[in-house]
Amino acid sequence: MADRWYSEAVVYCLDIDTYADSDGDGVGDIRGLIGRLDYLARLGVTCLWLHPIHPSPNRDDGYDATDFYNIDPRFGTLGDFAELLHQAQNRGIRIIIDLVVNHTSNEHPWFQSARSSPDSPYRDWYVWADHEPSDRHQGMVFPGEQHETWTYDRTAKAWYYHRFYKFQPDLNFTNPAVREEIKKIVSFWLQLGVSGFRMDAVPFIIELTESGNPNSPKDFEFLTELRQHVQWRRGDAVLLAEANVEPDQLPTFFADSGGSGNRLHMLFDFMLNGRLMLALARQDPEPIIEALRDTPALPEGGQWATFLRNHDEIDLSRLTAEQRNQVYEQFGPDENMRIYDRGIRRRLAPMLGNDRRRIELAYALQFSLRGTPVLRYGEEIGMGEDLSLPGREAIRTPMQWSYQPNAGFSTADPEKLVRPVIDKGEFSYEKVNVTAQRSDQKSLLAWFERMIRTLREAPEVGSGSTTHIDVAMPPGVLAHRADGRTGTMVFVHNLGTTDAEVDLSMLEPEADLPIDVLADRNYGEVGKLDRLKVAGYGYRWIRLRRGQGL
Ligand code: GLC
Repeated sequence: MADRWYSEAVVYCLDIDTYADSDGDGVGDIRGLIGRLDYLARLGVTCLWLHPIHPSPNRDDGYDATDFYNIDPRFGTLGDFAELLHQAQNRGIRIIIDLVVNHTSNEHPWFQSARSSPDSPYRDWYVWADHEPSDRHQGMVFPGEQHETWTYDRTAKAWYYHRFYKFQPDLNFTNPAVREEIKKIVSFWLQLGVSGFRMDAVPFIIELTESGNPNSPKDFEFLTELRQHVQWRRGDAVLLAEANVEPDQLPTFFADSGGSGNRLHMLFDFMLNGRLMLALARQDPEPIIEALRDTPALPEGGQWATFLRNHDEIDLSRLTAEQRNQVYEQFGPDENMRIYDRGIRRRLAPMLGNDRRRIELAYALQFSLRGTPVLRYGEEIGMGEDLSLPGREAIRTPMQWSYQPNAGFSTADPEKLVRPVIDKGEFSYEKVNVTAQRSDQKSLLAWFERMIRTLREAPEVGSGSTTHIDVAMPPGVLAHRADGRTGTMVFVHNLGTTDAEVDLSMLEPEADLPIDVLADRNYGEVGKLDRLKVAGYGYRWIRLRRGQGL
């Protein structure tokens, strides 16, 4: 189904610079990634989300571009990128890229020109104030690392606005020339063959920044405009957006009041992410049940993207202080594991004590909940973090491919690596790597391959509707179902440590030879649904019934 391909996709995100280095300079590159496409195809992912690929001084891991029409020379050339698109397509894998147009790097020629003179044609491409704005110290995204949102520029003799770091001046999207440029950037990459974009910082892009007003209004019409533009250029392209806002504001990002999905196709479900963490920490599914109940209905074509980990911190800002503390206690007990007064800078496996049962449970849960699952590189083998690295870099270490030096990531001298590989402790590459797990049918990697393939045989999760099965359950157990054209799946996950027995006999009338298609162990025949066993930290994905005519 080409038109809604994203509903049934499995997305995998990666940084080119830490994935695979083909030329031994210590930095991952496009050729290296091409060499790993067969690995990704075997894993079963259908779409890659590449973190920023443009030239950049890399002061925010590429989220500070100096040229939107090019490839970071460390990664290769536009020619290499076209080859990547071709090779990925050959394997049935689509590619989406980060679109970071809220701001540029301060080294971008547009900003350099803008600051040089009030008469520069680029002056109005950025947001300026002549006098110190009263909200100068408000609205920071990176508290602790960022101290203001307006900075005085001596050359420009004016204050410029930056929602993020001060080396990331915000573009003035109220300027029609900037809007046109954004559309041109989008067209350029679509024409090359990308299947869409992960749009960075959307609530800030559409902000009509007024100096002195930390809650400036937003212009959602731009999203409608952009969607139309994207769809005219490439009918099946998708906009997957980062918009971490209050739930009541979410629907406006998908659609205008007309109700049909005419803005962004997909949003990351930050609300569910926080609740999932809380549920795992408490070993109690209630927060997930609340999330399923409270998420706003989506317009036709709208879709959530679910995730446990991405490239940033785990953002717990939408939990109450008490809930946040519960998560911190379990998953981020040391101060050094926390960041920005709201999050955790760790990978999932160490957070869950490297307990294989809990890791499987967490990912089985994420992948079975409504939406399109997004998986971060290295999670499929249970990589750890390096807390000696600053900030979010802790979870951005090189992919661990093998037992070879530098984890097989690069042949460069270790001191030349873009970031050190993890070479100590239980997450060292000698213990956690692809080569070891590839040949072990019981490995986490083998489990991920099986789980993802099972999910792809259960498209009702992505394109159907998901509901909580609201009957009495033993403590810790969540039961939910997904219904679609292809039939019905039932999922039972036990977040607690105690073995449980679940009564789902009210589903009997709908059942048609139910079978476990994925489970943490062999539970034998499903048989009657009135006494379904599920072990502590166990899970069962049961196909209840098949749909007709597929
Ligand atoms: C988004 C990205 C983050 C980046 C920021 C500024 O939040 O996810 O990594 O630092 O935007 O572009």
